[in-house]
Amino acid sequence: MTSIVVRVPATSANLGPGFDTLGLALSVYDELEITVLDDDRLEIQVAGTGADEIARDESNLVYRSIAHVYADAGREVPGLRIVARNGVPHGRGLGSSGAAVAAGVLAAAGLLARAVSLDEDALLRLATELEGHPDNVAPALFGGLTIAWTGQDGPRHKKLLVHRGVAPLVLVPEHTMSTTLARSLQPAQVPREDAVFNVSRSALLIAALTQSPELLLDATADRLHQDYRAEAMPETYALVQALRKEGFAAVVSGAGPSVLVLCDGPGRRREAVEVAMRAADTPWESLMPAVDVRGGTVKERAEGSA
Ligand code: HSE
Repeated sequence: MTSIVVRVPATSANLGPGFDTLGLALSVYDELEITVLDDDRLEIQVAGTGADEIARDESNLVYRSIAHVYADAGREVPGLRIVARNGVPHGRGLGSSGAAVAAGVLAAAGLLARAVSLDEDALLRLATELEGHPDNVAPALFGGLTIAWTGQDGPRHKKLLVHRGVAPLVLVPEHTMSTTLARSLQPAQVPREDAVFNVSRSALLIAALTQSPELLLDATADRLHQDYRAEAMPETYALVQALRKEGFAAVVSGAGPSVLVLCDGPGRRREAVEVAMRAADTPWESLMPAVDVRGGTVKERAEGSA
């Protein structure tokens, strides 16, 4: 019997102006071992972040993602044992659901590899069908900085490598935030000048992240989502404003409530943490991940091997 070992990174979506489009993979990981059983049982074991809240039945998101790929391929899902060791914080805007979906899709692709060939576009399509938007699942699958868009044939992505001078800092609060609530606070229409504002900043952000980190503060400004969502996460909004006032390129990570600071150099991260500790009334954990450049990985492991 063989097992599939999958590792997927945390991700931060939006990056300020790139709502539902830009995403960055970070070196914080969920690791899963998935074994095909010789009967139709489903066994799920979870340890690590958010373990108490994760379903152990067929509603489990990793399992649902595996089942989605099997259904798409016209195959029956076999009995499975899923053992997860999660490192990605849950409900904090760091792509935990995208990581679960990417893990399930990659695991299924690995298990079906001898019968079905899934290219990058197919993996992204399957993951986006489950997640609803591609900006977290693209970097979770492929790593680096990703631009994701939906073309006539479905979701697509372009992966870029981030300039070595960009050092991410993530500030994680104790409370969670619902993406559905955050999305419900945004209007269906926005003023044309706000749309133009975000188009210019998104274009600039690609240059800042790949060539010119000194432009990150201007390049991470946004008018499409963060202000509208502020009422649901006032501590996050205040922290972003306090950091930006001191010259740090701080944004809400995904739908929040974590804050991502794109520092122009590793040394600037400590300074940003000091500003954050002075500004915040509530506790925030600071993480200093690297940009993950590999994305999700899949290995086959023979039963009994290390
Ligand atoms: N782009 C998404 C949002 C990311 O901000 O709603 C969170 O899933």
